[in-house]
Amino acid sequence: MKLFVLNGPNLNLLGTREPETYGTATLADMQDALCALFPEVDFRFVQSNHEGRLIDALHEAAREGAAGVAFNPGAFTHTSVALRDAVAAIDVPVIEVHLSNVHAREPFRHRSMIAAVSAGQIVGLGAKGYELAVRYFLDAAGA
Ligand code: DQA
Repeated sequence: MKLFVLNGPNLNLLGTREPETYGTATLADMQDALCALFPEVDFRFVQSNHEGRLIDALHEAAREGAAGVAFNPGAFTHTSVALRDAVAAIDVPVIEVHLSNVHAREPFRHRSMIAAVSAGQIVGLGAKGYELAVRYFLDAAGA
């Protein structure tokens, strides 16, 4: 089964970026942990600081027949109609993942452009959120 794990802006800095909010694990640590936990999954990992690259990755997920996308759009979550449209445009379920509990933070983080077109949302559980999204896709596929 092929799954995409997409991470948006500034998530390349995980490990050193505001560790009190996002923890000390790096993006590579998170990706390595997923590969170790789920050797049966064919992962495609994409991180980009650019909205267009994330849109392209969502289109790629559809073209490549991915079973799902675990997507942390970072700050674009709160602003991007284009990412919302891309999620709505593809026939691949997307789970929105946030490391921090966005609902316990600044009011501008409470609104998600993505949530209404996503299969679900996982917030505040740190890197475990990506793992739970993968487990959901595996269960949904009966794997
Ligand atoms: C985030 C939450 C966003 O509000 C923020 O802009 C991020 C990270 C999270 O994973 O908690 O970049 O998506």
